[in-house]
Amino acid sequence: MPLREHDPELYAALERERQRQSEGVELIPSENYVSGSVLEAMGSILTNKYSEGYPGRRYYGGNENVDDIERLAQERAKQLFGVPHANVQPYSGSPANFAVYFAICQPGDPIMGQNLPDGGHLTHGWNVSVSGTYYRSVPYHVKPDGYIDFDEVWRLAREHRPRLIWCGATAYVREFPFEDFSKVADEVGAYFAADIAHIAGLVIGGVHKSPTLYAHIITTTTHKTLRGPRGAMVMVTERGLQKDPDLAQKIDRAVFPGLQGGPHDHTTAAIAVALSEAMRPEFKAYAAQVVRNAKALAEALMAQGFRLVTGGTDNHMLLVDLTPTGPGRGIFMQEALDRVGLTVNKNTIPGEPSSPFYPSGIRLGTPAATTRGMREPEMERIAEWMATVRDRIASFELPKDRDERNRVLSEFRAAIEKDQRLIQMREEVREWAKGFLVPGIN
Ligand SMILES: Cc1ncc(COP(=O)(O)O)c(C=O)c1O
Repeated sequence: MPLREHDPELYAALERERQRQSEGVELIPSENYVSGSVLEAMGSILTNKYSEGYPGRRYYGGNENVDDIERLAQERAKQLFGVPHANVQPYSGSPANFAVYFAICQPGDPIMGQNLPDGGHLTHGWNVSVSGTYYRSVPYHVKPDGYIDFDEVWRLAREHRPRLIWCGATAYVREFPFEDFSKVADEVGAYFAADIAHIAGLVIGGVHKSPTLYAHIITTTTHKTLRGPRGAMVMVTERGLQKDPDLAQKIDRAVFPGLQGGPHDHTTAAIAVALSEAMRPEFKAYAAQVVRNAKALAEALMAQGFRLVTGGTDNHMLLVDLTPTGPGRGIFMQEALDRVGLTVNKNTIPGEPSSPFYPSGIRLGTPAATTRGMREPEMERIAEWMATVRDRIASFELPKDRDERNRVLSEFRAAIEKDQRLIQMREEVREWAKGFLVPGIN
């Protein structure tokens, strides 16, 4: 029975989401639209299967086809990233990173990662995460100009002699200095893990330096620039095997049985499909356009008077610093842009003067818009809309006092609901966005 009839309530919510995805512009840098083929594999009967273990070594029967599928995914990952070992089973990026800890660290070991308010990820040692609780986290930071403070990295590494150093971030707009990190790790005897969750597609596309020659371990999500299903991979490089010949087995054992039970075989299949798509020349062209679009959006926003962290971007992402109009303004901008169908997320900026929940910036990215075929002229149009939205909400400031803040936010929400220019803009964005097809939807 079709879902529409089988579960109308769920179906209606799904339809509303389908509409939201096609009638707005997705500018969250960690999101993308997968192909119809990736969706087909994700929604396949592989979800019915249990297959704890690895190809040829399973704890359940009936895995001959799953073995083929998982081997395909592994081989494609190895080929694309030029690595000797790939584990494609982690449920998502965070469990993939925890597998790295579990494979090579003992509780209490010192570890280094980019501080979360400076753009790093929760799993790189932030204090509310297991990574910052079970291990002794020594975070490094970015300088006021937004670039990683490498003098600090050297100083902290020599002082604390970490077991593991992460390079990778969730909000960093410049090329990652993998080579420099490998020198630090070598000198202090640390493992060096590159978390390329955000930039994996750019690495494959040849528009961001690859960590393969420098890192011991590479982790990545598969659902961002890589344009696959929600999932992740942990790869071991030749360098990693030179440092520790058992590293591949340690990683495999950490993923299963260390942290997980049965792999999500439908996800593994969809990862294999996404990796085969990433091998095609069209994907290289896509990755290059993602970066061109990000640079075009950066130029257009600066021309509209926005300030960007580091003054631009090398990758798919931009961080807009809204402090010239006051601290803590990220929430206003995010909600007002949402109102007109431009989806972004509020984000901290270097030296954040407000707080992680009421940060002073917004984070933007071009992977999803580029998948829909948007190019440089469309980026200019988006920047114009964003400037108008900024000007419409310029009078709202974020009070420090909690009650006062709630009052201002309620007033703000009421105001953007009835702002005629924003209402009209919502229609403009809707009509315009509908002209760009969404794979898997249109
Ligand atoms: C750099 C980085 N690593 C890991 C993750 C975690 O991925 P997931 O949300 O799939 O757990 C993210 C997600 O945003 C990320 O940006």
